[in-house]
Amino acid sequence: MFNAKIKEISEKFVVDIGSADTKEMLKEIHSSLLGKKGIITDLLKEMAYLDVEAKKEHGKLINILKTTCENAMGIRQKEIEEVLLLKEFESGKVDITLPSRMPLSGNIHILTQVEEEIISIFQNMGFIPVDGNEIEDDYHNFEALNIPSYHPARDSHDTLFIDDKYLLRTHTSGMQVRIMKETSPPIAALSPGKCVRHDAVDAKHSPVFHQIEGFLVDKHITFGDLKGCLEHFCKKMFGEKTSIRLRPDYFPFVEPGADISASCIICNGEGCKTCGYEGWIEILGCGMIHPKVFEHAGYDPYLYSGFAFGLGIERVAMIKYGVPDIRMFYENDIEFLSQF
Ligand code: DAH
Repeated sequence: MFNAKIKEISEKFVVDIGSADTKEMLKEIHSSLLGKKGIITDLLKEMAYLDVEAKKEHGKLINILKTTCENAMGIRQKEIEEVLLLKEFESGKVDITLPSRMPLSGNIHILTQVEEEIISIFQNMGFIPVDGNEIEDDYHNFEALNIPSYHPARDSHDTLFIDDKYLLRTHTSGMQVRIMKETSPPIAALSPGKCVRHDAVDAKHSPVFHQIEGFLVDKHITFGDLKGCLEHFCKKMFGEKTSIRLRPDYFPFVEPGADISASCIICNGEGCKTCGYEGWIEILGCGMIHPKVFEHAGYDPYLYSGFAFGLGIERVAMIKYGVPDIRMFYENDIEFLSQF
């Protein structure tokens, strides 16, 4: 009984919809079917007196009726719009000289852009970029960098080991000894890439992040060379007005070691929210390559000297573009990414 009723309603509506000529007519049909006083509302009300099984059965049929009519209305709406457009076109109302909407075009991700910018600044100073391996061995990631297994510095590198020997590199510094072994001084090399640490995610930390390691080795390289080179980098990256501050810091693979801060690009060193009212923002770690590292590479530390530095690409991008949360780089939010 009910089945036949639904069929009848459905057939009637499909015919009505098919013969509607205007959007207004379609709207009327829509409300007589789905509106507050529409047929479907009535059918649903009738269901109140049915038992559970019948309710299920009727509910299904009502849904079929609803989607059948909605589909028919969708198709008819498009047909009506096409006819209208054709009419407008024929009467000359459509301005065919208007420029069309441009299709969305892709863009290089901001982290890649920043990586390329950093690399190009150092390339202009003669540094050569070298790809590194994301799966590293314990020796190059730690041992050769003067971080033996008992060294407390390992604690700060929450390492994901693959087995006893291999791990996901925790920094790009391991490339120092690899490159040194493959070539001989003078060397000026850069190695960018992905690093992994077992860190909890928050606004400043991500378990996967990107670094660039750089180092230079030759005879008679001094701390002055390090300072000049990295000051030039900061000025190119953050603006000519930028000044730098060096403070002693400890990294087992350099001696002496330092961290470099740049004057805050927002307040020019006056002190603001971005720099925590300090006027300075920490950019990178650096230092003179430790004799132990040279020994691992097979270089005579009395003959050669050099400096090394490591910086986080996310960190530089956050500072340069005022991005408050590292997670924004990985969420693939087009609104955010299309700004760059
Ligand atoms: N590898 C260090 C880290 O991940 C960064 C670093 C500090 C690299 C000092 C260097 C350096 O080459 O000299 O924290």
